[in-house]
Amino acid sequence: MATGPNRLQLVLAGLAAVAVAAAVGYWLLLPRMTQTAADLLGQGEYSLTGTDGTAFTEKTLRGAPSAVFFGFTHCPDVCPTTLGEIMDWQDEMSKVGDTLRFYFVSVDPDRDTLAVLRDYVSWVPGVTGVTGTPEETAKAIRAFRVYARKVPLDDGDYTMDHSAMVMLFDRKGRFFEPISYQEDPARALAKIKSLLAR
Ligand code: NI
Repeated sequence: MATGPNRLQLVLAGLAAVAVAAAVGYWLLLPRMTQTAADLLGQGEYSLTGTDGTAFTEKTLRGAPSAVFFGFTHCPDVCPTTLGEIMDWQDEMSKVGDTLRFYFVSVDPDRDTLAVLRDYVSWVPGVTGVTGTPEETAKAIRAFRVYARKVPLDDGDYTMDHSAMVMLFDRKGRFFEPISYQEDPARALAKIKSLLAR
């Protein structure tokens, strides 16, 4: 009687080893692949100016957690709604003695001067307006992989189509998570809390 493993057992053991190797390889590779694009968010050579008088560059994102949102002051719906949501989040955070810094980056630098922006964001605590030259704005839009497009209106005026999410960054300036437009308030707040707890 043979006492060692038979041929079938050897084949099964071999298949199991291959499956484990494939699973480990996949597990090691997958986060690296999906993280690469996200890790680059906000990185780049743009230089804008904040309504607090400081420069807004990729370095701004380092040192403390932050949230970045792209919009414009003539926005009829998305931007006012988002600012209202930020107001609610800051309100909730203030109850536990916390606050998050928000950057409202204009995709419409021709109309959004620092003075216009300062007035626009003044009612929401912790929000800094950001604007600059059209060239630097375009660079920032690319760095954050957001979408923004000028749309002519019938009356000769124009509006802007733009991405409507809030991007969260950790204290090292690395992309953490997005908050979608009109996301469930409890869910959004949980993301902010987990960001601040990092
Ligand atoms: Ni908007």
